[in-house]
Amino acid sequence: MRKIMVTGACGQVGSELVMALRDRYGNDNVIATGHITLPSERLSNSGPFHFIDCIGIKSVEEIVKKHDVGTIYHLAAILSAKAEADPQHAWDVNINGLYNVLEVAREHGCAVFTPSSIGAFGLTTPLDNTPQDTIQRPNTMYGVTKVAGELLCDYYYTRFGVDTRGVRWPGLISYVALPGGGTTDYAVEIYYEAIKHRRYTTCFIKEGTYMDMMYMPDAIKSAIDIMEADPSKLKHRNAYNVTAMSFTPEAIAGEIKKHIPDFVIEYDVDPIRQAIAESWPNNMDDSAARKEWGWKPEYNLASMTKEMLEKLSEKLKIKL
Ligand SMILES: NC(=O)c1ccc[n+]([C@@H]2O[C@H](COP(=O)([O-])OP(=O)(O)OC[C@H]3O[C@@H](n4cnc5c(N)ncnc54)[C@H](O)[C@@H]3O)[C@@H](O)[C@H]2O)c1
Repeated sequence: MRKIMVTGACGQVGSELVMALRDRYGNDNVIATGHITLPSERLSNSGPFHFIDCIGIKSVEEIVKKHDVGTIYHLAAILSAKAEADPQHAWDVNINGLYNVLEVAREHGCAVFTPSSIGAFGLTTPLDNTPQDTIQRPNTMYGVTKVAGELLCDYYYTRFGVDTRGVRWPGLISYVALPGGGTTDYAVEIYYEAIKHRRYTTCFIKEGTYMDMMYMPDAIKSAIDIMEADPSKLKHRNAYNVTAMSFTPEAIAGEIKKHIPDFVIEYDVDPIRQAIAESWPNNMDDSAARKEWGWKPEYNLASMTKEMLEKLSEKLKIKL
């Protein structure tokens, strides 16, 4: 088989996606690539690892040629809150980086998976039961790059026949690597703080704010499933809404309380991230993904919370 390359391999998603792909397709068939962050021992000891900078096309092309890469999972990106802090850099990584990956894919006949996000929507989008095809006028640099990325991937498919595919992920919750500076990061921090201090005193998102969320094993499954899907069934190739649950900060706190009864949540709202959250859907309609390639999440808030608390208490060596 031609090899698989993952960019952004040391990030929140990449550190788990690489291991899942290696389990499925064999360690040596999956080339992990990072940028500056050092890989975990697990990542670097289990298969090939290289540093690249996707802002420059050369290092991307070098790895694709060297390993005869046939599929690229392109995860390298600057996330929403970080992108607002440095929009110029976010444009460079999220747009020019993606353009370079697509150009290399065109030249070398690679398939490309690129995740979009709930950040691709904006205040004029219907925020309840957000349709698959709808108004997309985001007012953040992250959102602008995600909409442009969806369109660019569509273009490379229709114009050049590059096999591009993608999903719009909601906030992703995981215990292996820390999140990289997004608006939904509170829903990861809350579990760490619950275990360490039995209180989360800096919830930067306001009570009552709904956002779509997903537990990492489901996100990994969505990426692999769409790349393995029958292409003749895919009508919306690059931007499938996928979700697993939608909740508010007080709902996740309530679920944690079932396991840690004295758990307390307090708010210290960040106006920038709150404004971003309010421009994102409350809950998305993911029926196109369910119909076209059989998307179905396995975890809900209760099962995710139980597992997150168990796994994190093992990781942090703190008894619940
Ligand atoms: N985590 C989420 O909640 C979430 C939700 C929706 C969509 N997504 C999307 O999923 C993808 C992965 O997100 P993540 O959470 O793993 O992000 P992350 O910030 O944890 O990881 C991104 C990685 O990209 C790398 N990177 C940055 N600049 C680079 C460059 N110039 N060249 C090469 N690599 C570079 C970073 O080193 C980092 O490890 C992104 O496209 C993101 O927009 C994530």
